[in-house]
Amino acid sequence: MEHTVRIEESLCIGCGACVADCPASNIELAGEPRAAKVFDPENCLFCGHCEAICPAGAVTLTGFEEVPAEIPEEVNGAVRLDPDTLLDAIRTRRSIRHFKDEPVPQEIIDKIIEAGRLTQTAKNSQRQSYAVLREHLAEAEKIGVEGLRAAVAAEAAKAAAAGKDPAAVSPLGRTQITDDFLFFGAPLAIVVLSPSKTDGCLAAENMALMAEACGLGVLFSGFFTDVANAAPALREMLGIDETRQAVATLVLGRPDIRYRRTVRREPARVTWL
Ligand SMILES: Cc1cc2nc3c(=O)[nH]c(=O)nc-3n(C[C@H](O)[C@H](O)[C@H](O)COP(=O)(O)O)c2cc1C
Ligand code: SF4
Ligand code: SF4
Repeated sequence: MEHTVRIEESLCIGCGACVADCPASNIELAGEPRAAKVFDPENCLFCGHCEAICPAGAVTLTGFEEVPAEIPEEVNGAVRLDPDTLLDAIRTRRSIRHFKDEPVPQEIIDKIIEAGRLTQTAKNSQRQSYAVLREHLAEAEKIGVEGLRAAVAAEAAKAAAAGKDPAAVSPLGRTQITDDFLFFGAPLAIVVLSPSKTDGCLAAENMALMAEACGLGVLFSGFFTDVANAAPALREMLGIDETRQAVATLVLGRPDIRYRRTVRREPARVTWL
């Protein structure tokens, strides 16, 4: 849908807050009395900072499906998570590969997708989309497992022809690719698709945090993401084309395992400049 920035001149008090904050330098104060005007509607990010900052409620971005509150509620500063709780959540989460045989309720799936939708994107492009695998989960896993086995066999044949140990040349050389190797019996997987790896992965990490906050276990399946981009049948099923790729796959479900302690990580490599 087309967006525009609508500035209601009769409400504008000419404070200049939107001018100072616009990241695209796209607003000026003009006329008498001074009122805000958008220079170039084509080159707008539609980031909404002008709407968010205006003390007079004079700015509205149009064209979004999301209905604005009738009386826009002012947010009283950013919502703050307790920093220590947040760090504990990041520290104690683990990749989950054991899931209960329970479906994930629709309202939780919706919340996870909402966390992706609300994530920031470069130039506010918001081009990520989501393929939710439920009914077709088993079919997708079967195609993916077959694709991986074929890729490993091809690598092994190449290695053997070159006189090398086939098991040593591939990261999967010594791994048994079981039938549940990609989704580990989980009831749900969400593939994040985007033209931009960075945008898609930022959304995916927020989605993972939301899923964990809702009590789910999460595994990022890099193997599924790779095979989804490579296998024609998966590309078709997920809607991957030259405009967008799979950037992350969240495997989700109620965890059927409890980790008793956290694990150590390498120290941060930081250059202080
Ligand atoms: C981008 C990404 C892709 C991953 N892909 C897989 C995968 O395909 N299969 C798997 O079993 N684990 C996968 N993992 C899990 C990692 O192995 C795991 O995060 C790492 O060993 C650390 O363990 P922890 O997440 O429990 O702290 C992936 C993790 C990330 C971040
Ligand atoms: S939406 Fe963002 S880029 Fe566009 S005029 Fe407002 S502040 Fe500037
Ligand atoms: S922030 Fe609002 S009141 Fe201030 S100049 Fe911009 S539109 Fe006018």
